[in-house]
Formats: sequence, structure tokens, C-alpha cells
Amino acid sequence: MKTKDIMLSAIQPTSYPHLGNYLGAVKNWVKLQDQYRSYCFIVDLHAITVPQTPENLSLNTLNAAAFNLAAGLNPKEVTLFIQSHVKEHAELAWILNCFTYFGELGRMTQFKDKSSKSGENIGAGLFTYPILMASDILLYDTKIVPVGEDQRQHVELTRNIATRFNHRFEKEIFIIPEPRIQGSGARIMDLQDPTSKMSKSAQNDKGVVFMNDSAKEMEKKIKGAVTDSGSEIVYTPDKPGIKNLIDIQVAITQKSIQEIVDHYQGKMYGHLKVDTAKLVMEEAMPIQEKAGQLLKDKDTLIDILHDGAERARNHARETLDRVYSTIGFVPGKGR
Ligand code: TRP
Repeated sequence: MKTKDIMLSAIQPTSYPHLGNYLGAVKNWVKLQDQYRSYCFIVDLHAITVPQTPENLSLNTLNAAAFNLAAGLNPKEVTLFIQSHVKEHAELAWILNCFTYFGELGRMTQFKDKSSKSGENIGAGLFTYPILMASDILLYDTKIVPVGEDQRQHVELTRNIATRFNHRFEKEIFIIPEPRIQGSGARIMDLQDPTSKMSKSAQNDKGVVFMNDSAKEMEKKIKGAVTDSGSEIVYTPDKPGIKNLIDIQVAITQKSIQEIVDHYQGKMYGHLKVDTAKLVMEEAMPIQEKAGQLLKDKDTLIDILHDGAERARNHARETLDRVYSTIGFVPGKGR
């Protein structure tokens, strides 16, 4: 039997997950979970590249774990853990720091964007963060990294660092990972500004459906979605508002675009909005309830995460030991 390829995905604990996170990422991992050997972790080490309050960080970390489990991630199938529980991430990051060029990091467009917005005091972590991401990926012999287009450059950097390291020591220490870029249908846009991606950092919450919004709030936001001029329901880039609502329906129902467009022949925008709101509520409410139950029993939730961390660590330690001995570090006690 061919062993399964390794897939790795990360969750940012910087807010409660929104509809874009759920439909663009989580729902997809749940669908793929038995095809791959999967690692899925909450990137609290990454979150602190920008200021976080301690209460929010721990709350959002546990919320993210509960949400993913509630959405159907099976912790027996997927190794689910908190990044800071596996200290090998930080350890490998240091090593890879010494195999990454200053110029490479300076070319990262996400860094250029973020640093131009954050004024004078730009944390070094914001600059070196792609190296931590490379460690995340390389620690687990990852083959597949499902990410949005905005992360492609970071995965490319990871490939370059891994290739450089392998060449330097003339051994295949690291597996070279591949980005799996999510299709446009999986890209849910802001309801108030359907030309930008739905994002927690949007100016206005009205365009962002958080998965812990009440049913009423969800309905209000979707019914209030900005639509386009005209009245015909068609799927085209010139009608980003309508296209987005159709994409939401496709992601939830897994029907084809054509099937949905056909269904709305001769109907009005209002119909599309009402139905989309209903679908979102029906999808989100059971997850919300389940997440609530998981959060009530924190000990069990934490046990699941500790168990995941232990499994992850076994793999991570093996990789790191291989790296340390390749570099020429003298083995420490117990290794
Ligand atoms: N940088 C990713 C983002 O901002 C999150 C991330 C951290 C990640 N480590 C990763 C994604 C490893 C894929 C693999 O969305």
C-alpha cells in the first residue's frame, strides 16, 4: 500500500473564524482529511508578529480549535495541535534563519505591504516570519500545502530554503513541498466590497460573516450584501457581488455554478440573497452549537490538543535530530 502524502494547514488565532476561512479552507480540509496524512495547527507563534492581548490570544486559540473540531475535523485522522506546544518549530526556525538571505525576505510582498502600514517600529518577527512558516512545513516532511494565492510566495521561499539546505549537505534532508492553490470559487469576498477578500481586518464588520454571529446577524449581513447594477443573475467578473453569493452557494452545496445560475433564471437578486442567507445559517448554526459544547468542556478540548502535540512532536523531533546531526551539532543528552 502506498503511504499517504502529508498535508499541512495552519490556522491563525487572530479572530473568530469567518465564512471566508470556513468555506475557503476548513471545509476543504475536512473533505480531504482521509486522503492525506494531515497536520493542522493553530499558529500562535505567528500571531504575535503583531501585538496581541494575552486574553484574546488564548481565547482565540481555543476558539479556533473548537471551531475546527465542530466543523468536522476528526482528531484521530488529523493531528490537531497548538504550534507553541511543539517547540521544534521555534528551534528549526533558528537553523533556517542561517540558511535564508536577507534579500529574499525583503522581496516578500506581504512584508512590504504590512511594514508600509505599520509605521516606524516594525518587528523583526514580521520580517523573519516566512522562515517560521518554512519550519512549520519542513518539520513534517510535508508534500502538500493548501494555501491562498497570497501565501504562494512563502511556499516558494520554503522550497528554496529546503533545496539550498539539501544541496549544501548533499543529502535529501528535507522534502520539497508543493503549494496547492485554492481555486477562485473557494475565495469568498467581502459582502460590502466584493472586490476584496473577506478578511477579519476589514474596515467594516457588515461585510464579514463571523461564524459565531447570531443567525439574525448573518441574515442581515447577507441580505445587505452589495449587489451589482442590472437584475439578471449571471456569473461574471463584472458582477462581483452576485458572483460572490453564487460562490458561497457552490461552496456550501457543492453544486455546479451552472446548476445554481440555471435555478435563478428569471428570478431576482432578492431571491438569491434570501436563499444564500438560509444556506449559510443552516450550515453555520449546528457548527456553532457544537463548538459551544466543546468549549464548555475545556479539559477534554485541551486533552485533544495535547495528544495532537505529542504526535506532532514525535515527527518533528525526528526531523530536527536529522538536521542537527547533518549540521554537525554534538548530540545532547537523551538524543
Ligand atoms: N502564513 C500563513 C497565513 O498567513 C499561515 C501559516 C503559518 C501557514 N504557517 C503555515 C500556512 C504553514 C501554511 C503552512 O495565512
